[in-house]
Amino acid sequence: MHILKCVFDVALNMVTDLLNRPLRDLRISLTDRCNMRCRYCMPREHFDSHEFLAKGEILSYEELTTVVEALIPLGLTKVRLTGGEPLLRRDVCSFIEMLPKELDLAMTTNGILLERFAVDLAAAGLNRVTVSLDALDVETFQAMGDTNETPETVLRGIEAARMAGLSVKVNTVIRAGYNEHSVEKVAERFVGTEVVVRYIEFMDVGETNSWNNDEVITGQMMRKMLDNLQPVKPNHVGEVANRYIRGSQEIGFIESVSKPFCGDCNRARISADGSLYTCLFASKGNDLKSLLRMNATKEQIANAVRSIWSQRDDAYSQNRGKKVQEKIEMSFIGG
Ligand code: GTP
Ligand code: 5AD
Ligand code: SF4
Ligand code: SF4
Repeated sequence: MHILKCVFDVALNMVTDLLNRPLRDLRISLTDRCNMRCRYCMPREHFDSHEFLAKGEILSYEELTTVVEALIPLGLTKVRLTGGEPLLRRDVCSFIEMLPKELDLAMTTNGILLERFAVDLAAAGLNRVTVSLDALDVETFQAMGDTNETPETVLRGIEAARMAGLSVKVNTVIRAGYNEHSVEKVAERFVGTEVVVRYIEFMDVGETNSWNNDEVITGQMMRKMLDNLQPVKPNHVGEVANRYIRGSQEIGFIESVSKPFCGDCNRARISADGSLYTCLFASKGNDLKSLLRMNATKEQIANAVRSIWSQRDDAYSQNRGKKVQEKIEMSFIGG
């Protein structure tokens, strides 16, 4: 079966890496800025004095569209817009309009600006949003996000997205000592809706979030906090969440610390300044911006990415603890 798949991919000009993983999912960081300061992602003591990218350093929508179009023949089927906070980037809907509609178009957002944008995002051709929401009580939400915003704003954004016809998932990072109680509370809040709730183990991404293994609540521990979970099969190869049904609700667990999923990882990332990263935990990217700014053709971009991807052997989460390398921040590379 595997050999057949490889023959098929080669025939279609698709690319696979050294571990036979295709390139299916491109995650584009539209900006390295964010209007929140989640302590596990952009701790204020590091990011309030941080020098963010200047406008000229960031890839334009035309440049990003060129990259996306170049990657379709290589096997790309999905684009996810991330950040920082992607809704902070000016005219984001005009970019979505430019993207090929044969792709699954999704966005990961903190939801603060979602109420304002939901209708326009859907009209521009976005299919889905994933909204981060770590707590429903103001105190925990503000402590984790280090923000004056409230969960009500995010909930209004989620409602607006649903009303606009977008599929909605909620991502809840669970961190010991902060929000264990969110496991039950967030699931309960979305009973009776189509919203899929996914819990994420606190990850050792980046260098600034003081990650410590004792603060990880594993998926297995979270499942003990929820009754009546029935496991279900993944929707597709490479899906990051382990899925369960609870009554009429879908719940997922993203267990990248306790159950790494590198084996099927088909995700490439582009930082806002135009480097291609082949792993969330990479220390170095591959410069595509210079190529783009030398007016490279789509074929040239595709060849460059093919060459980078075909040498890829990243599996950081599976090798955790074995290799020590300086990691890039998630707000820069895109969640
Ligand atoms: P779907 O298309 O809905 O399956 O989206 P997704 O799950 O790929 O996207 P989402 O942004 O919601 O990803 C959820 C979270 O999983 C991310 O924010 C990360 O925390 C984590 N994650 C996603 N991709 C990777 C990855 O490649 N490696 C690791 N370690 N974690 C990842
Ligand atoms: N561990 C786990 N999840 C994280 N996210 C950001 N930083 C971390 C981390 N250290 C999540 C956000 C968002 C998505 C982009 O990634 O909460 O849902
Ligand atoms: Fe911003 Fe998302 Fe990072 Fe929180 S997790 S600081 S919302 S990019
Ligand atoms: Fe993919 Fe790297 Fe995450 Fe493993 S650690 S799933 S290779 S992005």
